Amino acid sequence: MPANNLSPSVADALHRRRSVRAFTDAPVDPAVLRSIFAAAQRAPSGGNLQPWQVTLVTGEPWDRVKTAVAARIALGREGYQPEYDIYPKGLTEPWESRRFGVGEALYASLGIPREDKAARLARFMENYRGFGAPVMLFLHCSRIMGPPQWSDMGMWLQSVMLLLVEQGLASCPQECWAMYGQTVRETLGLGADQILFTGLAIGHADDGQAVNQWPVPRVELDEVIDWQGF
Ligand SMILES: Cc1cc2nc3c(=O)[nH]c(=O)nc-3n(C[C@H](O)[C@H](O)[C@H](O)COP(=O)(O)O)c2cc1C
Repeated sequence: MPANNLSPSVADALHRRRSVRAFTDAPVDPAVLRSIFAAAQRAPSGGNLQPWQVTLVTGEPWDRVKTAVAARIALGREGYQPEYDIYPKGLTEPWESRRFGVGEALYASLGIPREDKAARLARFMENYRGFGAPVMLFLHCSRIMGPPQWSDMGMWLQSVMLLLVEQGLASCPQECWAMYGQTVRETLGLGADQILFTGLAIGHADDGQAVNQWPVPRVELDEVIDWQGF
């Protein structure tokens, strides 16, 4: 996809991208998606394995996934089918505070106080509607793949998210779908050899919504980079 004068720079796209949690119902042009995925094939991967495998849904198959997962959720704890531990068990500092902090900021943007557990849960469940996105991408790979290949999937995912920004589209990565991985797999006919990493909701941002406007914090560089020999 050739860049043009209107295209954001890579740095602009990085700054503009955010996890969008309210979409309009405007459809997404499949030709645009195809060009984005063609460009994202340039993502690097160890040994050039290109381990990412993708199932993209809209319309009826997307509705089918939402219905099937909702039925699973209705079973309560018995319906839970985690593909992997989304966070390490017993998450310690500084990571626990970062996770807590972003959750608080998100709910604050929606005006939902910590005590209102029911409203928080209802809002969390919006995840399983893809926040209203017309397209859902499921990113999965063969179960034989290990941490290096999962990191390759992450590079592919970020490439897609930046390319979506370039096209004026928005996204939200959603590992919450991995909590009901088996249902997603069965509903869409993914092989049993596949493990579901994450969903990616894709569509047009509903820019007027406060949930899409709050500043998402990042830690200072010195917390993550140890410069040696400079
Ligand atoms: C692999 C992955 C999975 C994620 N899963 C979810 C999710 O299930 N639900 C959600 O609301 N946000 C999810 N997020 C979004 C993160 O909360 C978000 O990236 C982080 O707070 C930084 O905010 P930003 O993306 O707006 O910059 C996920 C992000 C990644 C990279």
